[in-house]
Amino acid sequence: MVKKNACIFISGEGSNFKNLLKRSRDYNFPISIKLIISNNPNAKGIIFARRYSIPYLIINTYLNNFENTILNNLNKYKINIICLAGYMKIISKNFLRSFKKRVVNIHPSLLPKFKGLNTFKRILKEGETKTGCTVHFVDETLDGGKIITQKSFYITSGFNELDLKKKTQMLEYVAYPEAIIKIFRFNY
Ligand code: GRF
Repeated sequence: MVKKNACIFISGEGSNFKNLLKRSRDYNFPISIKLIISNNPNAKGIIFARRYSIPYLIINTYLNNFENTILNNLNKYKINIICLAGYMKIISKNFLRSFKKRVVNIHPSLLPKFKGLNTFKRILKEGETKTGCTVHFVDETLDGGKIITQKSFYITSGFNELDLKKKTQMLEYVAYPEAIIKIFRFNY
């Protein structure tokens, strides 16, 4: 199977990256991870990239031309898809227009509910009874592109933010690979 080249953007832990890397070793999984981009030099995911000899690039988003640096590297590694996984920077309109290929993101809520940051805190505050995660295409709106996959669970009484995070992330590890399969195998 000819795999598509993926670049994963991270800012922190990188657990979704690790999970995708594990899945990408399956012969039938449609992507191969060729590059990691992080805006945070201390992202734990970088340690993982190093351990598995995956090229990585740490970018300084305070430099004017940082998006050009990213685009040049995406070209160099012939990247077909960007997977945002805990990347804490907004992708600019210009960047999306220049890259022209798929950009997907994973968000820890059932979009369109709870776009943006501090998701778990807001979910608890609103007294939601159900939550989950969403994988969606990235467009020029915040957490607003077409939804590819969602996974949900019921919130039982006594759940705190950490419980929500753990349960949501367990579902993310199923949802992200599933979304990628949907995109490349079923032309979503
Ligand atoms: C995930 O929960 C994802 O939904 C959100 O950021 C978190 C990243 O976690 N966008 P990790 O870095 O993949 O562990």
